[in-house]
Amino acid sequence: ALPYDLAGRRVLVSAGGTREPLDPVRYLGNHSSGKQGYALARAAAQRGAHVTLVAGATSNPGEPAAVDVVHIDSAVELEREMQARAVDADVVIMAAAVADFRPISVAGSKIKKGADGPAPITLAENPDILAGLVRARNDGVIPAATLIVGFAAETGDENGGVLDHGRAKLRRKGCDLLIVNAVGDGKAFGTEDNTGWVLTADGRETALPFGSKTLMASRILDEVAAVVPNGGRA
Ligand code: C5P
Repeated sequence: ALPYDLAGRRVLVSAGGTREPLDPVRYLGNHSSGKQGYALARAAAQRGAHVTLVAGATSNPGEPAAVDVVHIDSAVELEREMQARAVDADVVIMAAAVADFRPISVAGSKIKKGADGPAPITLAENPDILAGLVRARNDGVIPAATLIVGFAAETGDENGGVLDHGRAKLRRKGCDLLIVNAVGDGKAFGTEDNTGWVLTADGRETALPFGSKTLMASRILDEVAAVVPNGGRA
């Protein structure tokens, strides 16, 4: 049986990829399937949490039963939803694959082929949503007790610096837990299986078993449930 250890906790999860518009019909996107974030949302609901899933572009992530789903397209929209909803969440999990850049302007009509060849695309940097949530918590906008969880997709293996990159990213972003995924060579992105580590801000490191994203989700939530504040506003 599943543990009922998130009963009444409010869990906010982002999942999928962002789409950064170029014109009314085109965007820059990524290969995120959303499967890991959906698996987390589903598993948290099964463990008794009230779950809101803010979802970008996905491919066959499965129905998220008993979860409120909000759809977004771009990173800027995702940031707005996460900032607004994190103020009454106990746990925030940023599993979305956020585009680091967006086209600096969106053409009002479909971009045409020109005699001069393709027009260059100028990019602007997107906000780091995860770091912004930590900042909002430092500023007292998001309650101090809210647990903030990030993901890091790193290429390489355990000996190839994946964990070192993860540790540095955890410090840089300032979140409480960081799920480190080994990616590349067909690992993680768009696949059914996943593996990695859970790193905590206070220095604990737990290896996750290689297996389905459902199994990963349940192991990640074991770590979340172990540190999520008890009591609260069930
Ligand atoms: O820096 P990097 O993209 O590797 O960080 C990954 C983590 O940061 C993920 O949790 C992702 O959801 C989040 N992120 C974000 N905003 C960005 C880029 C990444 O919240 N612009």
